[in-house]
Amino acid sequence: MNRARITGTGMYVPEKVVTNFDLEKLMDTSDAWIRERAGIVERRFTESEIGTAGLAYEAAKIALQNARLEPKDIDFIIFATLSPEYQFPGSGVLLQEKLGLPGIPALDVRNQCTGFIYGLAVADQFIKTGMYKRIMLVGAEIHSNGLDFSTRGRDVAVLFGVGAGVAIVEPSADPDRCILSSHLHADGRFAKELYVENPGSLHTPRLTKEMLDTESVCPFMNGRQVFKHAVVRFCEAIEECLVANNVSPEQVKLVIPHQANQRITEAVAHRFGYSMDRVFSNIHKYGNTTAASIPIALHEALMEGKIEQGDYVVLVAFGSGFTWGSVLLRW
Ligand SMILES: CC(C)(COP(=O)(O)OP(=O)(O)OC[C@H]1O[C@@H](n2cnc3c(N)ncnc32)[C@H](O)[C@@H]1OP(=O)(O)O)[C@@H](O)C(=O)NCCC(=O)NCCS
Repeated sequence: MNRARITGTGMYVPEKVVTNFDLEKLMDTSDAWIRERAGIVERRFTESEIGTAGLAYEAAKIALQNARLEPKDIDFIIFATLSPEYQFPGSGVLLQEKLGLPGIPALDVRNQCTGFIYGLAVADQFIKTGMYKRIMLVGAEIHSNGLDFSTRGRDVAVLFGVGAGVAIVEPSADPDRCILSSHLHADGRFAKELYVENPGSLHTPRLTKEMLDTESVCPFMNGRQVFKHAVVRFCEAIEECLVANNVSPEQVKLVIPHQANQRITEAVAHRFGYSMDRVFSNIHKYGNTTAASIPIALHEALMEGKIEQGDYVVLVAFGSGFTWGSVLLRW
């Protein structure tokens, strides 16, 4: 059986920086509140029509270069996003078109903040069976045109940003450098704790003027409930992948959590006794970019030299659904 490995990463964020002070001008919030409650200082927004697949394409070019591959080498695309260009089809086929790869399959993953982890688990299985050999896995997100920037939506709007991250997954020639295991979970009893209700297929018609006048077309979040569950599930998922591989917390070089909230990241670090240099964080720069946050963080960690060959690295996420999961890698 083949083992799978990430052979190249890339990221892209738009140029437009939006600071907390910029948001102060739109709603009743403050730089101090956002920093203290979430650890976010600024995020990136886009005003262009680049689209989610367009963001991904920019990140994909860098990932291909780092993996020393060309677009034609890719035989499968997995695209995780909650903010596709259209209701359907998903962004996967749009990226495939940009890469000039007609015919290869494109799978869209809808697992929100856990999307990259779900996608990586799928990629790992396809590589293991030998069905595909060079998979492009994407997490990309555009939030800047999907939030309520009035005071009504401030609890959610200050948290999210725009970005894309890509990982290339291939068979590993070295059995010591691979994805060791992945662990996925979900609990639909909490689906409405973090969701966008409309437009959706429950209502006829799907979209009305009344819906547009309410916040139901923007994300609703029960912040405290999400926070409470996130800390527990992040810790469980980390524990699960370590136990499955008989690896101790001390052996882990770096934990790369989904960038949900700096306080969540710190609570998780505290639980395992990690100093903050062993738990990667870049939320101050980008906010929460949902499915894109882990591949962006992984790319930055690699560029900053925080991961070396042979290191154990944990990727872990929690998000809407609720969904959560982890992956243990030997780099
Ligand atoms: C959203 C979150 C930062 C709010 O922090 P909190 O400490 O729970 O704050 P609360 O919701 O209790 O709100 C505290 C007060 O701040 C206010 N507030 C909410 N958003 C605000 C904002 N952007 N600016 C200023 N005040 C705000 C609330 O209205 C509330 O006021 P009140 O006490 O007068 O009612 C926090 O709950 C959180 O991070 N949750 C998880 C979010 C997350 O990770 N989501 C993605 C999952 S992948």
